[in-house]
Order: sequence, then structure tokens, then C-alpha cells
Amino acid sequence: MTSPRQVSGTILAISGSLRRNSINRAVLRAAAAAAARDGTLVVVDDSVRGLPHFDPDLEVEPPEAVQRFRAAWDEATGVLLAVPEYTFEIPGSFKNALDWTVGSGSLYRKRSPSSTSPRPAAARAREALDLVLKAHGAEAARYPMPLARNDRNAAGEVDDPRIIGELRAVVAGLAKRGTATDPAG
Ligand SMILES: Cc1cc2nc3c(=O)[nH]c(=O)nc-3n(C[C@H](O)[C@H](O)[C@H](O)COP(=O)(O)O)c2cc1C
Repeated sequence: MTSPRQVSGTILAISGSLRRNSINRAVLRAAAAAAARDGTLVVVDDSVRGLPHFDPDLEVEPPEAVQRFRAAWDEATGVLLAVPEYTFEIPGSFKNALDWTVGSGSLYRKRSPSSTSPRPAAARAREALDLVLKAHGAEAARYPMPLARNDRNAAGEVDDPRIIGELRAVVAGLAKRGTATDPAG
């Protein structure tokens, strides 16, 4: 679901994968459903898909899609990221989206727990994401999720009670303003 306008207290959830059947997106949907039980709104934002290539020359008058993307970050209490590993890195489209927030400072001190690819081998994507979030000055916390492809049900959704419980705890911590969140432990 894409929602360019957020309400106060909203958690923005962004997948590093654009794939329709993405497991990272499924994780974020599960987080949104779990958080709803606690009255917390998690909006799974799909606007990475519609962003142009980052170009510093466009910073003077950023395209509308970029303005909406930045506003969503700025208005969110925190941002939940779920990111796969592509060729030992974070996906290019996701990195492109983050590059658009350098000029706006949207990630600066933004609490941003993240899970990287469910694949245990994805250590390089984790390192890459850590470095990028550090460069942005985000209050990042890594949330490694030991998730395998077959941890989804027949409908492609993540419904394992253990994983749902962990996601609920992460979002609950994130929703608490002024409280440090370190779901990675
Ligand atoms: C272009 C491409 C490159 C990939 N490179 C890696 C990689 O370097 N290391 C790895 O562990 N998995 C790699 N994968 C596998 C994905 O990380 C894995 O399938 C992940 O679950 C995809 O996330 P998604 O289901 O959210 O789309 C790659 C997949 C693609 C499509």
C-alpha cells in the first residue's frame, strides 16, 4: 500500500525489494498487521518504485515523487526497513531512494530498525546497510531475521507466531517516542 500522507505517530515500512512476491515485503506486511493489534499504524510504503534516478542537479527543484517520499520520512516516527542482498550489496533501487534523502536529511536521527535479507548468508548487505545508515546519521538498529523461504504460508504471508511476536516488539519499541530502540540486542 502506498500512502504519500502519513499521520502523526506513523511508522513507515520500506522494502528494499520491489518484487511482487517479495519475502521482505511480506515481513513488513506481517509487522503492520502485528502492530495494528497495539493500535500502531505501520504503513508499507511502495514509493521507492516511482522515484527517478538520483541526480544532484534535481535537488534545486525536486520532482514531486521525491518530495512526497521525503515528506513521508519526515512525518514518520520511525522507519522499518527490510532489505535483501543483491550481489553482495543492498539493491540499487533502494540505495537510489536513500540517496534522495541525503539532501533533505530525512534519515538524520530517524530511528530505523532494519532487517536484511532473510538469507543467513547476506552478511554483506547487512554491512552495506549499516554503513549507509551511519552515513545518514540515522539511529539504526539491525534486526536480523532468520527467515527462510518456507517460513511463509500458502498465501505467501509470514504467520509464524515467533516471528510475529518479534516484529510486534520491534514496532512497539519504535513507536515509543524518545526511547532508544535496539531490537537487534
Ligand atoms: C539480482 C540479484 C542478486 C542477488 N544477490 C544475492 C547475493 O549476493 N547474496 C545473497 O545471499 N542473495 C542474493 N540474492 C538472493 C536474494 O537476496 C534473495 O532471493 C532475497 O530473498 C530476495 O528478497 P525478496 O524476496 O524480498 O525479493 C540475489 C537476488 C537477485 C535477484
